[in-house]
Amino acid sequence: MDFIVADTYEDMSRKAADVIAGCLATEPDCVLGLATGSTPIGLYADLVQDCAEGRISFADATTFNLDEYRGLDPQHDQSYRYFMQQNLFDHVDVDVARTHVPDGANPDAEAACAAYEEAIAQAGGIDLQLLGLGHNGHIGFNEPCDHFPVDTHVVELTESTIQANSRLFDSVDEVPREAYTMGIGTIMRARRILVVASGEDKAQIVRDAFFGPVTPEVPASVLQLHPDVTVIVDAKAGALCA
Ligand code: F6R
Repeated sequence: MDFIVADTYEDMSRKAADVIAGCLATEPDCVLGLATGSTPIGLYADLVQDCAEGRISFADATTFNLDEYRGLDPQHDQSYRYFMQQNLFDHVDVDVARTHVPDGANPDAEAACAAYEEAIAQAGGIDLQLLGLGHNGHIGFNEPCDHFPVDTHVVELTESTIQANSRLFDSVDEVPREAYTMGIGTIMRARRILVVASGEDKAQIVRDAFFGPVTPEVPASVLQLHPDVTVIVDAKAGALCA
């Protein structure tokens, strides 16, 4: 594992964007796994700028996002599809037909999960998977539990997640109760993994996930077993790992 402590959020974002830019430069038809959340917003902005200035191109790339709310229309401003369009896809030269987010609108959950795994396999697997890190060590929507879920599956959101997310919706009743997420196996099958984390509120979980025991109680700890992981944190998130 490469563990890199950047000075600031901006520095973390630039360094992480460089990893993705390097992948696009050396393998223009690469398959990228992408994440939503607040942490990658800066690195997506850097990639948009790199693309505008002609340094990189997404024209031949394929993307798969980690997760999506179940039952939310892709046009909804809280859907992860919407997030990706706003923060990256609408501003780069990616072929939107080759961008994949689990289909939150498909009422057949089992079929939607199987189709997602199949689409990843058909694309030849994920070359580089970007991950953020939840405060409890979750990756995707894989929350702490007693085992590592393997493939793309449906999760029930916990009451605390529903309450926390309700600030982004008109009312708590509108918050989806379920989500689709790549499984831990889906993530671990990626050939390379890039994790970003920032802020002092992530310092403890960064230490637990990357320097503590491997346990499904801290889902991200499984990444210690992956042969090619780069973790880039800002100084605040890396403060307990000196
Ligand atoms: C996002 C995702 C989540 C986030 C995590 C960290 O697609 O799967 O696991 O990466 O919740 O979120 P932020 O970056 O907002 O702290």
